Amino acid sequence: MMNNLIKKMKILVATEKPFAAAAVNGIKDIVEKSGNTFALLENYTDKKQLLDAVADADALIIRSDKVTKEVLDAANNLKIVVRAGAGYDNVDLEAATAKGVVVMNTPGQNSNAVAELVFGLLVFAVRNFYNGKSGSELKGKKLGILAFGQVGRNVARVAKGFDMDVYAYDAFCPKEVIEQAGVKAVDNQEALFETCDIVSLHIPATAETKQSINYALCSKLKKGGIVINTARKEVINEDELIKLMEERTDLKYITDIAPDKNEEFAAKFAGRYFATPKKMGAQTAEANINAGLAAANQIVDFFKTGNKKFQVNK
Ligand code: 3PG
Repeated sequence: MMNNLIKKMKILVATEKPFAAAAVNGIKDIVEKSGNTFALLENYTDKKQLLDAVADADALIIRSDKVTKEVLDAANNLKIVVRAGAGYDNVDLEAATAKGVVVMNTPGQNSNAVAELVFGLLVFAVRNFYNGKSGSELKGKKLGILAFGQVGRNVARVAKGFDMDVYAYDAFCPKEVIEQAGVKAVDNQEALFETCDIVSLHIPATAETKQSINYALCSKLKKGGIVINTARKEVINEDELIKLMEERTDLKYITDIAPDKNEEFAAKFAGRYFATPKKMGAQTAEANINAGLAAANQIVDFFKTGNKKFQVNK
């Protein structure tokens, strides 16, 4: 009797880059078992499809999908958006807050997948993109981890398996925490670039970090230095990196997020530049299941108990 009085919530999964089928099935199961309604919009190609789909949604699960003011305005019933993943720079937090919409992420759920990709790309890079010529090994090389969050910590763990010498800098993480993880903490990002053979970026895209990986910083890299980016394209100052790579023909840039000037990088730096065709870091069945199911559980719990533990727009 009571149950009939409880409103069923419509929980929409809207993913331009779809989850693995097992993750979608798992989300559907959680939603339906909780007595709510499951809806799916994946592989969409047009913003209009998203605007139509959100019209009657109470909750939204997304990946890197852009939740702009326009999307929020089209979603009159919306109460919660969960970004199944770490970075939430794709959600207009101000607009969500203004509309009373709770925004959450699922921290840590896809970080192992991203960390593993770092090493997949690094082996490819130090072996000259498998062109048959003699390359080098990761063992004994100095790896600098910029930002020691969930992904950075997983990168450090895997790097030790490769017998790398691991360094890190994080503006918000105390040195002691970095050192407790068996990683050498340096004082600032300049020191990280100066010290290391390879620098792996794990900073979010914020007002402070956007364009921060620039000429001055990257020019501190040693001969043969590599910058690997599995974070966000916005943290790179693309014009300055192009200028530096023109001057320093020893440097490589490897990225999981194609820059706006992808074609220019590719044309100018053959053999020294590689970008995955689509962001692949979190694109594993395991990461999709971890992040997708966590998102569904967070939404169900939010509707049931009001739990806002992972809210990011407080
Ligand atoms: C994240 O912030 O969680 C990663 O960049 C993964 O993004 P994706 O879900 O779009 O693959």
